[in-house]
Amino acid sequence: MVVPVSRHVTVAPSLLAADFGRLKEEVAAIEAAGADWLHLDIMDGHFVPNLSFGPPILAALRKHTKMPFDVHLMITPVDPYLDAYIDAGADHISLHPEAGPHLHRSLQHIRDAGKKAGVVLNPATSPDTIAWALDLTDIILVMSVNPGFGGQSFLTSQLPKIAQLRQLIDAADHPIVLAVDGGITATTAKAVLAAGADTLIAGTSVFRAPDYAQAIGALRSGA
Ligand code: DX5
Ligand code: ZN
Repeated sequence: MVVPVSRHVTVAPSLLAADFGRLKEEVAAIEAAGADWLHLDIMDGHFVPNLSFGPPILAALRKHTKMPFDVHLMITPVDPYLDAYIDAGADHISLHPEAGPHLHRSLQHIRDAGKKAGVVLNPATSPDTIAWALDLTDIILVMSVNPGFGGQSFLTSQLPKIAQLRQLIDAADHPIVLAVDGGITATTAKAVLAAGADTLIAGTSVFRAPDYAQAIGALRSGA
């Protein structure tokens, strides 16, 4: 009998769904509950129709947690602000190819700063967009909702894209994280993990749950 080797599923709760009046406590609680990374959604009211928070919030929280800061930039232009997020404590910076004219150069800049570089694919964005920048990519983040808001429903149309990206990543010559963001619940987590994702970004299903550790465990149990 073949015993399946259980794989570690990275869970990155999105701060967007936390109680903004108690950010320090929320971050401590989610770290104690077993979160791997803290996902930080940066929105400018321009690239996406919503505003969230910026570098001062990252800098303020940085000293209160050891979790890597997984920064998701939904801002345009993106390049003038990369250093502000790097200086504020970002460990990973992921950006949308549509947010600047030179994806390759933006990724290079993040890498040169010693941080992990990520590319985010909107629901209508093709995996081909990153085919010639894979060498500079540490993280591929598939949006399973349109970016801008928490609490939206998961788009099943993205499952074949996740499977396609899994093949692309397996053929690459360096490790690349395959993350999915938007509408992730225990049920949709199962589907995205089966399609080949290894990292789950979840706001509502974790921060709005009564028990954070249980919610994170439920996401991981789909592996
Ligand atoms: C949407 C953000 C997501 C969002 C996820 O633009 O990128 O990270 O916070 O929230 P849920 O899990 O509620 O869909
Ligand atoms: Zn996000």
